[in-house]
Amino acid sequence: MCGIVGLVGNTAASPRLVEGLRRLEYRGYDSAGIATLSNSKIDICRAEGKLINLEERIKETPLSGNIGIGHTRWATHGAPSVLNAHPHSTKSVAVVHNGIIENFSSLRSMLKAEGHEFISDTDSEVIPKLIHHLLEQGYKPIEAVASALKRLEGAFALGIIFAGHEQLLIGARRGSPLAIGSHEDESFLASDAFAMAPFTRRISYLEEGDWAVLRPGVTEVFDSSDRAVSRTFQETDYNLDIAGKAGYQHFMEKEIHEQPRVIRDTLNTYYNSAAGKIFLPNDNKELEKLDQLSIVACGTSFYAGLTARYWIEGIARVPTIVDIASEFRYLESPLKENGTALFISQSGETADTLAALRFAKSQQQKIVSVVNVTESTMARESNIVMPTRAGIEIGVASTKAFTTQLVTLACFSIALARKRGAISNKEEVRLTNVLESLPELASKVLAQNQSFIEISAELSEVETVLYLGRGSSYPIALEGALKLKEISYIHAEGYAAGEMKHGPIALIEKNTPVIFIAPSGPLFEKTASNIQEAAARGARIILISDKKGITALNELIHIAFEMPEVDEFVAPILYTIPIQLLAYYTAVSRGTDVDQPRNLAKSVTVE
Ligand code: F6R
Repeated sequence: MCGIVGLVGNTAASPRLVEGLRRLEYRGYDSAGIATLSNSKIDICRAEGKLINLEERIKETPLSGNIGIGHTRWATHGAPSVLNAHPHSTKSVAVVHNGIIENFSSLRSMLKAEGHEFISDTDSEVIPKLIHHLLEQGYKPIEAVASALKRLEGAFALGIIFAGHEQLLIGARRGSPLAIGSHEDESFLASDAFAMAPFTRRISYLEEGDWAVLRPGVTEVFDSSDRAVSRTFQETDYNLDIAGKAGYQHFMEKEIHEQPRVIRDTLNTYYNSAAGKIFLPNDNKELEKLDQLSIVACGTSFYAGLTARYWIEGIARVPTIVDIASEFRYLESPLKENGTALFISQSGETADTLAALRFAKSQQQKIVSVVNVTESTMARESNIVMPTRAGIEIGVASTKAFTTQLVTLACFSIALARKRGAISNKEEVRLTNVLESLPELASKVLAQNQSFIEISAELSEVETVLYLGRGSSYPIALEGALKLKEISYIHAEGYAAGEMKHGPIALIEKNTPVIFIAPSGPLFEKTASNIQEAAARGARIILISDKKGITALNELIHIAFEMPEVDEFVAPILYTIPIQLLAYYTAVSRGTDVDQPRNLAKSVTVE
């Protein structure tokens, strides 16, 4: 999704804006641009495609000046092109924008009637034109922004500079995240703290509706009623070295291999070794009486929610519904009075999930969030925050964020079950031990890396792949199909194995690859029947199972991946790793842009 960066200081802005933009690349984008002030005049450089194109252009026509703004654009209104790329400007003001201005059409008509011309197809262009219009009416820059913000509807994070004002950078946020920071005599803004890490570790995330006036080394923040407010600054601990992939070819590969460590880190967050038990962050009495839980999320995070339902219902015995945020937010479900809703999000900024969270809050629900970015808006708006300890995830396709979400939700289920008296002490100890064994088991699976490369070369030639699983392997089948689609662009469907004969079986013809996620256990026999059905129709059966499962079905299998024997409880977590590796190596075989797949954004901050 779009990323913005801005700085005002005493050294050349242009190279540092590009450095900031490089750290926003992971969010996904299709054009980029920067603007600086040189000799008080706005200079702009924009390019379609990757940052390297922008750098080439800057080399040809360097931009000077110590103040500037930069943008990576993920197209919404208007195709990716130089004209639609940000910054958008007039001769007096330049703006970068992340979000969507919903009333752009009426603003554009009003401004056109006043004689302003528009050259792009974007909603964003109305912002500089509106500010310019106000400047022409005699407003000073800060007043003009304050007034313009009141006329904008929709979501935005903004960075704004003005011709003739070399020490004035303005930022604003409503709906889209924006952080500000300062270091000695410089000030910065960016969509996230990670983009600012080379310049400052001292940052503050603006609150909803805030806007900020930044001058060299000085930051002032105003709330939505234009009152001066003080916001807390914190030290971030982001690693500066993102260029290093630690010897891996892609960030996604590195992140897949980080899983044993981040699973351990996440477990340690909830496991109290002195008590030998798992605890939730706040001891929350109300969860004891919980009689229904609503889980809401998008994409991969939604599949984490689907998986958690098996645990929360099975272990903690709490009836649970799981919904996609973009549907839940408009369903207007009659939520139980004083109920609890749980939101899952890597970024903590996904627009639909955030809107669903706010809807649930308006219905007096207690809000629990499972987030990776603990400074995010969702975390700040929740009653209980359960952090995942994945660390920053750069690959657009989620991997370690998903498995750490699962670990967090597994811990949640155990702690909830104890609170509600739904689990014996013996069973709790057993499940906790099973969780504790995960990092080592994950390392074992990753050590078989090589065996995924061959089959992935084969998969890279096919047009469609089916993923099937039962019970808690069903969401993993969905996740497997999503991962393959996202990064290799091969059509894939994930289905509950038992549902195959109700439709998707029609897709199977000779040699159609069908990937079964089938750990041996209570549901294995049922899945084995589905494997028979698929094999009878000529499918190429790819089985992910343990020794017992593979031996039982040896005759039918085209290829098998042997997994360590594992308790049913954590099987979905462990069985995620092979489906990630399959997708990864298939994409590598096809030569796609694994870390930044086409059309995708890391953090989807628009509806
Ligand atoms: C898939 C993927 C997306 C995200 C989804 C939600 O690999 O990354 O499907 O899971 O956009 O994002 P978060 O978790 O940030 O709310």
